[in-house]
Amino acid sequence: GTTSDLESRYGNVAFQKVLDATGMCIIPGLVDGHTHPVWCGDRVHEFAMKLAGATYLEVHKMGGGIGFTVEHIRRASEEELYTLLIPRLDAMLRHGTTLIEAKSGYGLETEAELKMLRVLHRASITHPIDIVSNFLGAHSVPKGSDAASYAKLVCDEQIPAVVASNARNETSVEFVDVFHEKGVFEGVETRQILQAAKEAGFLLNFHGDELHPMESGVLAAELQATAVSHCEHVSEEGMRQMAAANVAAVLLPTTAYMLRIAYPPAQALIAHQVPVALGSDFNPNAHCLSLPMVMHLSCVNMHLTMEEALVAATLNAAASMNRAEKHGSLEVGKCGDFLVLDATHWKHLIYALGDEPIRSVWKSGQCVYQRPDAVPVLRSALPTSPITSQ
Ligand code: NIG
Ligand code: FE
Repeated sequence: GTTSDLESRYGNVAFQKVLDATGMCIIPGLVDGHTHPVWCGDRVHEFAMKLAGATYLEVHKMGGGIGFTVEHIRRASEEELYTLLIPRLDAMLRHGTTLIEAKSGYGLETEAELKMLRVLHRASITHPIDIVSNFLGAHSVPKGSDAASYAKLVCDEQIPAVVASNARNETSVEFVDVFHEKGVFEGVETRQILQAAKEAGFLLNFHGDELHPMESGVLAAELQATAVSHCEHVSEEGMRQMAAANVAAVLLPTTAYMLRIAYPPAQALIAHQVPVALGSDFNPNAHCLSLPMVMHLSCVNMHLTMEEALVAATLNAAASMNRAEKHGSLEVGKCGDFLVLDATHWKHLIYALGDEPIRSVWKSGQCVYQRPDAVPVLRSALPTSPITSQ
């Protein structure tokens, strides 16, 4: 609108702050649909093993992978984990992320899982990034146990412990997750845990159809899950049922890229009208904190259009974590989370691989990050010439 339009709605704008974004773009803050950001003990040695040809499940069976991280997490203090988490969130923010879904899952025993969830809760209060917390006690079967007895422990002890800790305001868990995978938690245990979680009042968003076809999409529809992550091996029937039950597919191109496995059928999911969201899957296996990088990979390797990647990394990701009412787009009534891009077209965010033109990041209307070399263009009055919007 024009200056006079604004003044007739909001009064005298001359005394309000004006951000001059002439020649720049503004897009919604990015939303990361799937992260495992609380961990210690890097796994760069495993990256080398995988580059030399080892598969994810081979490393896992040798006691590496999740098991390696579990041993480190159990020994770490809450303070240590929090201190490691904050710079990771800072990096996400610099790359334009304003809301994430974040999982526990490296404790695999009640107290260590609660420790991770408390770290997420604390960061959700202290850090500008919004965090939706997902309890992933069933990320792997801990050493010395088996899937059936551990699933029973998750249902009988861990889920009630999370409910109690939420009630004490020590955690803020909304979702429950399971690694639904051959040789990890198969159909029986996955259904048992997800059902118990649902009865306890949690929403569901779980890892499915990643390394083997598990019919996770069908199970998700049956249990009315909010989302399934991965979906590399989703079946035709799974896609049909996910669409009918409005279950989102959270696709993670970094995982397929790093593990050199097949990508999920993104275009088939879209053709079936499954809401497609994106996530970084940041974890010690897939060390990527940048959603623009994920968007780039999703376009090149998963065949999304740039428009589809933008929707998947904003509004659809917000929907996959039950936040679409307030996040994921620039609309009246939503949080003012947005990015200012130093580019004449928003597509440069995806196009400029590894050097995204993010000038500043705004959370609920406040500037929370400004690129150090970007001089702020803040004035105290609107320009006298009319503002035209395109
Ligand atoms: O989403 N597939 C299981 N979970 C993670 C990997 C976790 C890990 O390897 O530490 C994933 O890729
Ligand atoms: Fe994951």
